[in-house]
Formats: sequence, C-alpha cells, structure tokens
Amino acid sequence: MGYHHGPHPRNVRDFSTYVYSRVFTIDGKVYHDGISARNRQILAAQPVAPCSSLQGLSTKPIKEFIMTEFTYEYFLSLIKSIKIKLPKFEMPKLKIQDLTARLPIVQGGMGVGISLSGLASAVAESGGIGLIAANGIGLTEADYFKDGRAANIRALRREIREARARTDGIIGVNIMVALNDFHELLDTAIEERVDLIVIGAGLPIKNIPVEKIRENNVKIAPIVSTERAANLSFKMWKRIYNDVPDAVIVEGPEAGGHLGVPEDEIESPAYKLEKVIPEVVESIHAFEKECNKEIPVIAAGGIFTGNDIYKIMNLGARAVQMGTRFVATDECDADPKFKEAYVSARQEDIGIIKSPVGLPGRAIVNGFLKKAATEKQPFKCPWRCLAGCQADDANYCISIALNNARKGRLERGFAFVGTNAYRVEKVVPVSALMGVLETGYVKALFADMRVKAADVIERVKALKEEYRIAEKRLGELKAEYEYSLSEKFRNMREGSASLRQEYKKTAARLAELRLKLTEQIFETYAIIMNG
Ligand SMILES: Cc1cc2nc3c(=O)[nH]c(=O)nc-3n(C[C@H](O)[C@H](O)[C@H](O)COP(=O)(O)O)c2cc1C
Repeated sequence: MGYHHGPHPRNVRDFSTYVYSRVFTIDGKVYHDGISARNRQILAAQPVAPCSSLQGLSTKPIKEFIMTEFTYEYFLSLIKSIKIKLPKFEMPKLKIQDLTARLPIVQGGMGVGISLSGLASAVAESGGIGLIAANGIGLTEADYFKDGRAANIRALRREIREARARTDGIIGVNIMVALNDFHELLDTAIEERVDLIVIGAGLPIKNIPVEKIRENNVKIAPIVSTERAANLSFKMWKRIYNDVPDAVIVEGPEAGGHLGVPEDEIESPAYKLEKVIPEVVESIHAFEKECNKEIPVIAAGGIFTGNDIYKIMNLGARAVQMGTRFVATDECDADPKFKEAYVSARQEDIGIIKSPVGLPGRAIVNGFLKKAATEKQPFKCPWRCLAGCQADDANYCISIALNNARKGRLERGFAFVGTNAYRVEKVVPVSALMGVLETGYVKALFADMRVKAADVIERVKALKEEYRIAEKRLGELKAEYEYSLSEKFRNMREGSASLRQEYKKTAARLAELRLKLTEQIFETYAIIMNG
C-alpha cells in the first residue's frame, strides 16, 4: 500500500474541484479520494481507471491506511504561499472625466475676494483643485461702484489668468446662480477654459450653454444639499440637454457661507452630511449607468481633518470640498485680520444669520452683525448684484460688508465660517495643510484596517485552537485504533469499528476546521485588499 498526498496533481482535469486529494494503493489497486472544493465534502475513495494519469504517480509506503494525510504543516505552507498585496496607504486621486487631481481635495469657492488666484493656485499646485469665487470678485477693482458687471468680468478673467500663470494644476471657478450676472460670469469662465465650474446657491438647470461647455472641455458640477435636488438637476439636464454634470458637490449644514438647508432644519438629522452622501451616491449611480460615465460625489461642510475625509469617503464620497481650513492659510487672499478672526473665534462666537439674500448663513457673530440685526447700517446698493436680495428692506449690503471684512475692516463687516472655525489654531502654508490632511487620512485608513484585520485574526486564532484540539484527539484515536487492530485485540471487532467511526468523524471535523481556517485567512485578505 502507498500514497501520494497534497494538492491534486495538475494533470488531472478536474484539479480545481479538489482542495486536497490523495492517491493510494490497496492490494495493488490504485484509489483516490479528496476534499471537494465545491461542497467541502470528503469524497470517498474511488478506484482510479487503469488509463488515468494518476496511475503513474509515485506513492510512498505507509504502515496503515488512514483517513487523511493532509497535515497541519502542509496546511500552513499553503497559507504562507498566499501572497497578500497590501492596499496603497495613500489618499486616492480624484478623477473628473479626463481631469485627475493627485489629492481628492477641492478648495471651496469663497466669495467677495476670499478665494482668488492666490489661494486657488496654491491648492492646485499642492495637488488639489483650487476654485476662484466669482461673486463679488469685481470689488477688487476700483470701478466696481460705477460698473459692477464690467468689473466682475474683468476681475474674473484676470484672476483665472493669474492662477494659470502660477500653476499647471487644476483651476476652477465657483459661480452662484443667484447672481444677476450669472450668465456673463459663466460665459467668461468658459471662454477662459477653466478646468471646472462649480455652481452654487441655486440649481443650474435652465439656459446653461452645455454645448459651449463641452466644446471648451470644461467640467461642470452643481452644489446640492439633498438627494432630491441632486436627482432633480441631473434628471432635468438629461431631459433638456441629453447630458449630465460631471460631478456633484453635496454641501451639508455644517458648511461656512450661505446654506442650502432651511434655517429651522439646520440641526435636523435628515440633512446631515453622513446621511445625505450615501443617498446621493445611490441616486447618481443610476445616472452613471445610464450615461456610462463616472460622476464623483464630493462632500462639503464641517470637514476639518484627514480622519473626517477618510470617514466621509468611506460613505461613498470620492472627494471633499473644504472652505474654513483654507481661510487660515498664508495664501488665502483675505487680509491677515480676516484670518486672525478665525484663529481667535470661540465656538460660542459662531452662529446662524439671516442674510439679506434670503438664505441662512453661518458666520462669526461680531459687533457689526449684532448691531445690524436691529439697526439699519446705511448703504447705497451698488447695482443689485444678487437676484434675490431684498436690498430695500435689508439692514446692510452683504457684498459691501463681506468686502470690508476681506480687507480686514471687521468693524464694518463680518466673516462667514464653517462650524469648525473655532478649531483653527494658526495660519499655515497651503502645502503644510495638505500634508497634514494627507497624513491624517493615511493614519485613519491604517487604524481602520488594523481594527478590521484584528477582528478576523482573533477568529482565526480561536479556530486554530479548536483545530489543535481536534488534531490531538485524532492522534489519540489513531493510536487506539491501531492498537485495537493488533493481534492482542483481533477479536474485539466491535470496539475497533466504533473507534474507526469516531476516528472518521474527528478526521472530517479536522478537514472542516482547515477549510474554515482557510476561509478566515481569505476573509482577512479580502478585507485588507478592499480597504
Ligand atoms: C468665507 C466663506 C465664503 C464662502 N463663499 C462661498 C461662495 O461664494 N459660494 C459658494 O458656493 N460657497 C461659498 N462658501 C462655501 C465653501 O465653498 C465650502 O463649500 C464650505 O466652506 C465647506 O464647509 P467648511 O467651511 O466647513 O469646510 C464659503 C465659505 C466660507 C467659509
């Protein structure tokens, strides 16, 4: 009698159906048995046909025919041979059609001169996407009060060109639908062939020059606060233009600036970013399939650390848009006093205001805002820049107030902020901030992986222990069985039969445990691979 054991020989056609098999001879006849990969059953010994290639295998002599020869050591060597390809411990890139940003971080457009070419180009140069905000951009020009429209267009063109001159990175523009010169600004951004146009404060549905946008290879993304808004704008685009936007930004109620969430719903769980992101991801997935294009969902509002980025991306977001943290950078285009207001802000200083535009907004509630809540701050409306502005009833002009703040005159203006502005400790270079966010993300990824892997490793350990006990029992049974077969106990047929049965059961249990162990190892592998 002899045997061959190990993985089923490669020249056997149904090799893949066995996780283990062996070939052995009894009284000169060749048999094989094994463990099926499909239903994990032990397949009973079967004679091997005389013409089979298994006949030719060399076999080793053994003392006694036993149920299995698939040893634990052999099993371990199998496990060791599994090559684990670890995931990349780095932030994933952001792809918006043919645009690829090295980092999935978009610097949110911040109006009235907070994000101009300085900030946008620094972010783009560091691997993210930098956005120049178009609203109130003309306030950086001397003639804004004479001709606001012309000043806006001139300033937007200039800032795009300056940003382009400073970096080859990805530069976009943020334009609010609510602006009275929305279409002129949109045309300017397209003519300047910016990489991306982000449209906020209203849904960009009607009269969008989609053909011109495509001709100039410009990408476009709306900002929404709900799945309903995302779905509606994509559906309408499909119907009107037979096209859909290239990305969508979901801004939650913790964001800085004007909010798309009604004032009395800001605290509602229904609008929480963590709830809305998976809803939008699912909804947009249908358009991805229908239009056969990838449409990244980008999360905004209250994202402060690399860990925050990791968490929201785990919910399906492909990138984040951040505003507050980019204000506290050297390259932010606002006056240092504006940035200092962020550094010194306490949590209790941050509140919700009713903007003259008719939307709620989050800001540092300073002396100016407190006064303006009850007293009119005299102003002359320059040119009705915002469509929904109730300038006649308003206590102040929001564009002038924001422009004063940008220039550091906070006694005559105020700063918009996100909920986390009180956590800003100092003003840093953009490259340093990007580095901190990247490191934070990788740390979070690593910690998460360790937790997931540790859980599976614990289960593997428990199974291994169970295996060892079963293996020991099998050894004992084998010895007893062999002993019972010896001369001395030749007549004790019954005892030997029941021993053989128990031995069989234990051997089967052992095989089952091995398979479970293998499954657990593969589970760990899958978790690590899929992040
Ligand atoms: C000072 C400031 C000005 C902003 N201005 C605009 C704007 O003009 N248009 C816009 O769509 N979003 C604006 N936002 C929102 C940002 O683009 C971004 O989505 C938001 O700040 C993200 O939230 P976070 O500040 O918590 O990171 C502004 C935010 C801040 C803090």
